[in-house]
Amino acid sequence: MDTFISFRSISELRILSALLFLFMFCSSLRLTEAYDSLDPNGNITIKWDIMQWTADGYVAVVTIFNYQQYRHIQAPGWTLGWTWAKKEVIWTMMGGQTTEQGDCSRFKGNTPHCCKKDPTVVDLLPGTPYNQQIANCCKGGVINSWVQDPATTVSSFQVSVGQAGTTNKTVRVPKNFTLKAPGPGYTCGVAKIVKPSKFISQDGRRTTQALMTWNVTCTYSQFLAQKTPTCCVSLSSFYNNTIVSCPTCACGCQNNITEPGSCVEGDSPYLASAINGPGKNSFTPLVQCTSHMCPIRVHWHVKLNYKEYWRVKVTITNFNYRMNYTQWNLVIQHPNFDNLTQVFSFNYKPLTPYAAINDTAMLWGIKYYNDLLMAAGPYGNVQSELLFRKDSSTFSFEKGWAFPRRIYFNGDNCVMPPPDAYPWLPNASPVLRSPFTLSLTILWTILAHLLLN
Ligand SMILES: *[C@@H]1O[C@H](CO)[C@@H](O)[C@H](O)[C@H]1NC(C)=O
Ligand SMILES: *[C@@H]1O[C@H](CO)[C@@H](O)[C@H](O)[C@H]1NC(C)=O
Ligand SMILES: *[C@@H]1O[C@H](CO)[C@@H](O)[C@H](O)[C@H]1NC(C)=O
Ligand SMILES: *[C@@H]1O[C@H](CO)[C@@H](O)[C@H](O)[C@H]1NC(C)=O
Ligand SMILES: *[C@@H]1O[C@H](CO)[C@@H](O)[C@H](O)[C@H]1NC(C)=O
Ligand SMILES: *[C@@H]1O[C@H](CO)[C@@H](O)[C@H](O)[C@H]1NC(C)=O
Ligand SMILES: *[C@@H]1O[C@H](CO)[C@@H](O)[C@H](O)[C@H]1NC(C)=O
Ligand SMILES: *[C@@H]1O[C@H](CO)[C@@H](O)[C@H](O)[C@H]1NC(C)=O
Ligand SMILES: *[C@@H]1O[C@H](CO)[C@@H](O)[C@H](O)[C@H]1NC(C)=O
Repeated sequence: MDTFISFRSISELRILSALLFLFMFCSSLRLTEAYDSLDPNGNITIKWDIMQWTADGYVAVVTIFNYQQYRHIQAPGWTLGWTWAKKEVIWTMMGGQTTEQGDCSRFKGNTPHCCKKDPTVVDLLPGTPYNQQIANCCKGGVINSWVQDPATTVSSFQVSVGQAGTTNKTVRVPKNFTLKAPGPGYTCGVAKIVKPSKFISQDGRRTTQALMTWNVTCTYSQFLAQKTPTCCVSLSSFYNNTIVSCPTCACGCQNNITEPGSCVEGDSPYLASAINGPGKNSFTPLVQCTSHMCPIRVHWHVKLNYKEYWRVKVTITNFNYRMNYTQWNLVIQHPNFDNLTQVFSFNYKPLTPYAAINDTAMLWGIKYYNDLLMAAGPYGNVQSELLFRKDSSTFSFEKGWAFPRRIYFNGDNCVMPPPDAYPWLPNASPVLRSPFTLSLTILWTILAHLLLN
C-alpha cells in the first residue's frame, strides 16, 4: 500500500511539475502583456473630439471611458497627462484643470490656463459652480467600473487649445499619454485619428458630428501598479477547526530593523501621528502589523452544510490605516457559482468572459450600506454570506473543493494559501495524495481558462 501511494505521488509530482512549468510560463506571458483573462477586453479609452476651430487652435471635449468590468478609479481620482506635439497652450478649461500653470511669461494681456509642454489634468470636485461644468465632469476624478454602474463610467472635460493647427490637416495629436488612477498601473498607446464622433440631439431628430476625433487606449497591469501584492486570502471551515491564515509575508515582511515604521500596531499610542506622518498623501499604505502585511484580507469560511445547499461566509478586512475603499469590489472564481442561489448583503453579477463557463462572480457593496470599506480599525470590514445549491455531480467537501480558486480585490489578484495547507475533512486520510490532487484540480481549472482564451 505504502509503495503504491508513493509511486502514485511521484508520477503525480511529475505531471504536477510539468503543469506548474506550463502555468508559470503562461502567467509570465500574461504579466508582460497586461492581459487579464477575466476581463479580456478591459481598457480605458480617452477620446478627443474637436468641436470648434478657433482663431489660433481648437476647442476639444476630452472624454475618458472606463471599459473595465471590475476596475474602477477611486478617490483622489484620475490624473491625465500628455506631451504637446508643437508649441500648444491651453487658453481655458471647463470641467477640469491642469495641476500647474507653467511658465506663461511670454504672454501679454490674456494669460493662458497652462503653458506647459506636458500638462497634467485632474477633474474638478463635486460642487463646482455650474458655469465651470460640462456634462460628466466634476466628480473628483472618480469613475465606476462597468459592472458596478455603467452610467457613471465616463468623465469629461473641455480644453480650448491655442497655438495649434486650425484645420484637420495642421492639427497635431498630442503624444505620450499617461493615466494615473490614482496610482501607476496604466500604459497608454498612441493617439489614433478615427472617424469623427456623431452626436444625436436630445429629441433624436438631428445628428451633429465632431470636426475631428482621436482615440487613445490605456490598459492596466497589476505588475506595473505595484511590486508587491495588496491582498491575501485566508480560509476556514465548519468541519475542521484549523484556520488557514494568509501566507506569511504575502505582501511584505514585518521588519522594524531595516524598515522601522513599515507597519503599526493597532493599539500603538503613536497610531494617529503615524497616519498623518510622512507619506500621508502618497498612495503607500500604512498597514497594521500582521504576519502577511497585506492592506486587504479576504476570508472564506465554509459555514454550513444543508442537505441540498451549503453556505459560505466571506469577510473583507482592511488593514490599511490610510484608505477608505469606496465602491470596492471582489471577483471570486469557484466552480459552484453556476448554482449560486442567494447572496446576502452584497450585490452580485456573474462574469462570463467565456460564455460556456459560469464560475466567476463579481460582488460589491450595497449603496449607503456597505459600499464603503472603512480604514483599518473596528469598522474596517464588510461581510456577506453566499448560499450555493449542491450539484451532486460536482459537489464535495473533499480535497479543498469548497474553497475559491481565485480572488481579486478591486481588480488585483489576492495571494492564496498553498493548496496543501487547506483544511481537510477530518476523516480524509492525510496521505500525500490529497494536496497533490487538489493542486492538480486547481491547475487544471487555471489551464482550462488559459486554453480557452
Ligand atoms: C476597449 O474596450 C472596448 C469595450 O470593451 C472594446 O470595444 C475596444 O475594442 C477596446 N479597445 C482596445 C484597443 O482593446
Ligand atoms: C479633413 O477634412 C476633409 C474635409 O474637410 C476630409 O475629407 C478629410 O478626410 C479630413 N481628414 C481627417 C484626417 O479627418
Ligand atoms: C513620455 O513621458 C515619460 C514620463 O513622463 C518621459 O520619461 C518621456 O521622456 C516622455 N517621452 C516623450 C517622447 O516625451
Ligand atoms: C473611439 O472611442 C470611442 C469611445 O470609446 C468609441 O465609441 C469609438 O468607436 C472609438 N473609435 C475607434 C475607431 O476605436
Ligand atoms: C518590532 O515591532 C514589534 C511591534 O512594534 C515589537 O513587538 C518587536 O519587538 C519589534 N522587533 C524588533 C526587533 O525591534
Ligand atoms: C475615512 O472615513 C472616515 C469617516 O468618513 C474619516 O473620519 C477618516 O478620516 C477617513 N480616513 C481616511 C484615511 O481617509
Ligand atoms: C450563472 O449562474 C448564476 C447562478 O445560477 C445565474 O444567476 C446566472 O444567470 C448565470 N449566468 C450565466 C451567464 O449563465
Ligand atoms: C447547476 O447549474 C447548472 C448550469 O446552470 C445546471 O445545469 C444544473 O442543473 C444546476 N444544478 C442544480 C442542482 O441546480
Ligand atoms: C484540519 O486540516 C489541517 C490541514 O490544514 C490538518 O493538518 C488537520 O489534521 C485537519 N484536522 C482534522 C481534525 O482533520
